[in-house]
Parts: sequence; C-alpha cells; structure tokens
Amino acid sequence: MPDPTLPPALLHALTQLLGPRGLLTAAEDIAPHLADWRNLYRGATPCVIRPGTTEELAHAVTLCAEARVAMVPQGGNTSMVGGAVPDESGRQVVVSLARLNRIRAIDPVDMTMTAEAGVVLKAAQNAAAEAGCLFPLSLGAEGSATIGGVLSTNAGGNTTVRYGNARELMLGLEAVLPDGGIWHGLRRLRKDNTGYALRHLFVGAEGTLGFITAASLKMFPRARDTALGFCAVADEDAALSLFRRFRDRDDSAVRAFEYMSGQGVDFCVRHIEGIALPLGHRADHYVLVDLASSRPDAGLRDMAEAVLTEAMEAGLVLDAVLAESDAQAARIWRIREEHPEAQKRAGASVKNDVSVPVSRVPDLIRRSSEALRTLIPGSRPVPFGHIGDGNIHMNLEQPEGMDAAAFLARSHDIMDCVNAIVRDLDGSFSAEHGIGRLKTDMMESWRGGVELGAMRAIKDALDPHGLMNPGKVFP
Ligand code: FAD
Ligand code: MLT
Ligand code: ZN
Repeated sequence: MPDPTLPPALLHALTQLLGPRGLLTAAEDIAPHLADWRNLYRGATPCVIRPGTTEELAHAVTLCAEARVAMVPQGGNTSMVGGAVPDESGRQVVVSLARLNRIRAIDPVDMTMTAEAGVVLKAAQNAAAEAGCLFPLSLGAEGSATIGGVLSTNAGGNTTVRYGNARELMLGLEAVLPDGGIWHGLRRLRKDNTGYALRHLFVGAEGTLGFITAASLKMFPRARDTALGFCAVADEDAALSLFRRFRDRDDSAVRAFEYMSGQGVDFCVRHIEGIALPLGHRADHYVLVDLASSRPDAGLRDMAEAVLTEAMEAGLVLDAVLAESDAQAARIWRIREEHPEAQKRAGASVKNDVSVPVSRVPDLIRRSSEALRTLIPGSRPVPFGHIGDGNIHMNLEQPEGMDAAAFLARSHDIMDCVNAIVRDLDGSFSAEHGIGRLKTDMMESWRGGVELGAMRAIKDALDPHGLMNPGKVFP
C-alpha cells in the first residue's frame, strides 16, 4: 500500500478552509471511509474532506481541481459495487457529504422537501412523516444511505413498484461541478421544460460528473390504511400470478411486492436474532405483499383476504398470514430486509443485481439457479427481491465448507453465468446497485459503441481532467 500524500500547499489550504472537523487526516478517522460494505475493496487516501456547506465544498473542489487531485464522493458508503471508496494508489481524496445534513425546507402543500446530500434516507422519511406526508423511497440500508447517494445511484428498493426509482422522486438539484462551480438547480416544479434536463444527468452518474449537494424531492400523502401479507407460494410462476391478482384488484394499493426463496428465509431464521418464520411450515418460495392507501376506508385487509383466499383456491398460495399489528408487520418486513446481512453471515456470496421484463422473472430464477448449481456444485442460489420490478438479486452463496477465497475467485464466472441468461431474456446486468468498480468490465460488452461513446463525451465535457471518481462506471 503506498504512503498517501497530498501536495503540501493543497493540504495547508484545505486545513485552513475546513479545520479539524472538516478535514480528517488521522489514520483511525480515515479507516472507516476506505472499505466498502461488502469488503470487496480496501483503498488508501491522504485525507477525508468533510465540508459543512455547499460553498465550502465548492472551494475545496476548486483547490483539488487546480492541483489535479482526484475526488471520490462518499455518502453513507453502503454501495454494493465499491462505488464510494478510493483506489489503492493513495492519490484520490475522499469527499464525505455527511456534514451536509440539513433539511432546508418542507412544504406539505407543494408536497416537496429540500434536503441536503448528506441527509440519511431514514431522516428524510421521518421529516416527511412529521409534516404529515410520505417520502416513499425505502431500502434495507435506509439507516445509513444518504439522499446524495440514493440519487447518485438512482436507487430502487422496495417501493419502486409504486413510486418509481430515486430519479422519479427528484424535481431539482444543487450540484458542485468538477471545476468547483455551483449549479443552482433546486427548482421544485412539476413542469419545467427548459432545454436539456441537466438534473437527470447527475442521477445515476455515481459521482462521475460532480457532487450532488441538495435535492428537491417529491412527497406523497401518508398511508391511512395498510395491510401486509407474508405468503408461501407454489413456485415462481405463482408468485408472479399473485402479483397480477393484487394489481388487477387495486393497482394503486400495491406499495411493495417482494419475492424470497426458501433458502434466503432459512438463512435469516438461522443467522439473524429475533427472526422466526411466521407460517407453520417451511416452503421453497415466499412473497411479501405490502398494501397502502391514503384513504382511511380503503378496506385493504378485506381486499387482501379476498385475493389470498381466491389464490389459495387456485393453488397459487399454500399458506399466508396477514399482520395483526404494526409490530408484526415490522417483524415480517425484517425477514426481507435482513437478507443481505444473513447472506453475509452465512459465508462468502456473490451478488447478481439483475433485471428482466417482469413476465420473465420465473424463467430467470429457474434457469439461473440450475446453471449456478451446475457451475459450482454444492453452491446455494439465493434469489430474492423486487419481483414487481423484474429486479431479482440472483445471489449465490458458497458451498458449505468451501474455502471462501476460492469461491470468491470464481465471482466473475458466476456473474457471467447469470448475465448470459439475463441477456437471453432481454434484461440488464445492473438493475439498481449501479456499476461502481465491480462491473466496469461489463460496460463495453453491454453498453459499448454509440451508447458508451455518448457517455464518454458527456464525461469529458463536464470533467475534462477525469478527476471525479476515476475507475468507476467506465471500463
Ligand atoms: P455511497 O455508497 O456512499 O455512494 C454510492 C455512489 O454514489 C458512489 O459512486 C459515490 O461516489 C456516489 N455518491 C454518493 N454521494 C454522492 C453525492 N452527494 N454526489 C455525487 N455522488 C455521490 N440499493 C438499491 O438500489 N436498492 C436496495 O434495495 C438496496 N438495498 C441495500 C441493502 C443493504 C443492506 C445495503 C448495504 C445496500 C443496499 N443498496 C440498495 C445499495 C445502497 O444502499 C444504495 O446504492 C444507496 O443508494 C447508496 O447510498 P449511500 O449514501 O450509501 O452512497
Ligand atoms: C436488497 O434489495 O436487499 C439489496 O439490494 C440486495 C442485495 O443485497 O443483493
Ligand atoms: Zn434490492
């Protein structure tokens, strides 16, 4: 590992600008910013810049740009693809947005919230709730992931089926460009056709075009009636048929519809304290259905009971439970949310965050599971996730007793194996986690030619010296 250093004049200027709270240089303060959540990468950096205002960030970026020092934006550092950590060179500075954490405005009439980039997603949800509204984006990492991070990755999560990805929840942005210029685009208009929609360039750019410093976000009416079901279903087709039945009955009520395999639920029960199967018998396939309406008299529980009864009669649902209380609903949601942690505790695993047209999900799960078991005998496929969006986490757990490093050495074979099936099913090799550092080598074959060329032209125009998050997204 190289000894990380910065040009002394730059370090001095940053120290003057940011002071000890805003500039971390001690090894023990820097360490948590160097490794990603999955422990796939461990980088090095001379310092972590932690500005407290947009202007401070702009000033620091100007200094780094003048010195041609590369910058790595970091929010909650929950990236699944190593997107927010520096490389091993020791020449990239980490820029943490954590101190830009104010909710600047909240307006229940416009139904908008203006939040700074470092606001944690859970805090944004809570702020909306305090104003009597809902900010619907929801994912397992919401206690750490930030507004800047979810926008920069165009995060999906559990409620995409109803409210869309992070992009669809954003009306305007404030950003600091790679040369330190501030773009004041924090409009909160529902209609604003004024040339290129610059704001959308930054969403999903994974920090390669500049820093998001604040965003205007859409809020929605809060839920006044809810129902939550956990069901054992006959197979993957039954899971999809049940989704259609709920949608046909009341499309607007389906807030989340998640698939879990028996293997994934087994891992949760075995490895996560306080998780128990809410049904009498184990099954190979489960779904979680979450219904919500802003109408207090929507009758969602009755509706859920009716749909489930009919689905049982049709042989689609084998067993089901409807939550009797908010506490039970939270316990059921935990089974789904703890999948990533349970898999981590069960041993080494390889993630395949892929999507296909919704109708092809059963094929994806069946074909990939079989191909993976053939590729690595004894390995344990753990498909789960956002079936209503066609986004399945086609993850693979190592065989019991296999050396973890030997299993992880096969990561790219495993991803290639699933991706070949995904390509055949007209899908995408990256549904919601992004490219980061993990999937750069896949970009050429999936997005090469005109598409990647246009992306490079945009990157070169905004960041001609290649200072923003180098080594990410582009091969
Ligand atoms: P970071 O990890 O810090 O950064 C992510 C990327 O955005 C990096 O490229 C970084 O450089 C860039 N970035 C961060 N902030 C800024 C900024 N202000 N300006 C410019 N660039 C920036 N993702 C989903 O989509 N759906 C899920 O259901 C989901 N579930 C998860 C569950 C768990 C347990 C975990 C650990 C992760 C999960 N993720 C999920 C992945 C992750 O939480 C998301 O990608 C999230 O959006 C990252 O937010 P963050 O603040 O942690 O960003
Ligand atoms: C989730 O939906 O829980 C994560 O995005 C999936 C994963 O950990 O693979
Ligand atoms: Zn997910």
